[in-house]
Amino acid sequence: MTSILMVCLGNICRSPLAEGILTSMVDPTQVYVDSAGTGGYHVGDAPDPRSIAIAKKNGIDISNQVCRKFTAEDFNRFDTIYVMDSSNYTNVVKLANSEADRAKVKLLLSEIEGKNLEVPDPYYGGDDGFKNVYNLIHQACSKLILKF
Ligand code: 4NP
Repeated sequence: MTSILMVCLGNICRSPLAEGILTSMVDPTQVYVDSAGTGGYHVGDAPDPRSIAIAKKNGIDISNQVCRKFTAEDFNRFDTIYVMDSSNYTNVVKLANSEADRAKVKLLLSEIEGKNLEVPDPYYGGDDGFKNVYNLIHQACSKLILKF
């Protein structure tokens, strides 16, 4: 069993989409996917309605996800921790206890042609931002599943 954690700041916009998209592409008996946020502002909340909408438009239901905060314990539970941007990277790596922990943390878009790009935070923007985020995450997940 491979276990993958998707991490962003709020765990209501980007990482719930990443969890939903990757889950839709894998065999759940082989790959476990979860998501979390480095900030605690929305713990217990459902994903942002705009993320729910763009996922639904693409045939993916993320409405039952519940926001939780990333913890150091996640390093023990997951093989790879994909972060959306460099500030997520900094916040996650701060909680690492070893070089092995740090090595688990990667920018999700590094899976696209080795590019070290960021998934932009769509929270304060419009619906186009969510469409862009969906497409970027979809591209990266299509690449990363080739590794399983
Ligand atoms: P996310 O977006 O990190 O993609 O979930 C955000 C959601 C909420 C906030 C920031 C980013 N916020 O500041 O509440």
